[in-house]
Amino acid sequence: MQIGDIKINKITRLAPMASISNIPFRLIALECGSGMITSEEIDSAALVSGNVRTNYDIAGYLPEEKPIALQLLGATDKTLVPAAMILEDRGADIIDINMGCPMRKITKTGRGAAMMKDIIKTSKILRSIRSAIKIPLTIKIRGGWDDQTLNAPDFARMAESEGVDAITVHPRSRTQKFTGYAPWDVIGKVVDSVNIPVTGNGDVLSMNDAKKMKDQTGCHSVMIGRAAIGNPWIFSEDFEKLSSNDKYDYKNKIIRKHMILIREYFRDSAALLQTKKHLCWYAGSNRMVRPFRKKLFNAKSISEAEDIFEKFWANTIKNDRNINYEKIPLTIN
Ligand SMILES: Cc1cc2nc3c(=O)[nH]c(=O)nc-3n(C[C@H](O)[C@H](O)[C@H](O)COP(=O)(O)O)c2cc1C
Repeated sequence: MQIGDIKINKITRLAPMASISNIPFRLIALECGSGMITSEEIDSAALVSGNVRTNYDIAGYLPEEKPIALQLLGATDKTLVPAAMILEDRGADIIDINMGCPMRKITKTGRGAAMMKDIIKTSKILRSIRSAIKIPLTIKIRGGWDDQTLNAPDFARMAESEGVDAITVHPRSRTQKFTGYAPWDVIGKVVDSVNIPVTGNGDVLSMNDAKKMKDQTGCHSVMIGRAAIGNPWIFSEDFEKLSSNDKYDYKNKIIRKHMILIREYFRDSAALLQTKKHLCWYAGSNRMVRPFRKKLFNAKSISEAEDIFEKFWANTIKNDRNINYEKIPLTIN
């Protein structure tokens, strides 16, 4: 798949997820095999007004993440245009506009999925952004605002005519939020409606699912969100071919690296919270997880959290596979 001059050689890529698709997790996803990634949503008004957290933590990225798409959230060209120009100046390779967020606090101000309601207003916004930047412009949409207005194919045609270079489709409507099943046929309808690359997204739980989505819909790449949380090796085409010992070693290496990256890129309480959240997700779900979670969330420091995880992890594996994994420490010195 190619967006402008940017080639994406992988089938799957990490989806933007607020507070999750941050620098450490993006680097981990890339290491596991994700194709070009998109940042979490960056509020255009906050960016333009100079908000420090938005400018440095949320909109920040590393050279090794390039090429990278930075995603903007906004409702008008007054903030989206200057924000896109700021990000282009800072070296973004692609500007992506979030037109899919279903949360009420976002849509009530005309942002996210609300942009799909007024196709004329949104076409003008896209025209203004398109003429203000030189790098590729992409959008991420839903199937439509609600089940009565599943306008993704018409909306995609409008976007193409305004010079949008690629589209990601999460086919649920805004009212569906994340419930029920993602109707993949809507992705196929968008693919049939435009001549620009389309990325499919929604309910992909494995590399096999991603291949199925590609075959069934004709989409050019697949974004994976929730199934990558605590499971970034989903992006690896080879992971499933590994022996169970090698799978364990690979997971261990990735988790350790993720913990180091969290320490490097977050400070104090933010680092502790990220550590706890991700270790909890890595622990997955089995009958031993509940007491582990309780202990983990009571931990007062990163080393304590890692210690608790190490014991849990070693025990889980011992129970599963009868191998002495206590020799593989997870604590980072
Ligand atoms: C916690 C969370 C945060 C999200 N944040 C964003 C976001 O910042 N921008 C965006 O376009 N979509 C966001 N999404 C939607 C995902 O990118 C994706 O479209 C959705 O989760 C469906 O894909 P999945 O079934 O693979 O999870 C978010 C989803 C979740 C669960």
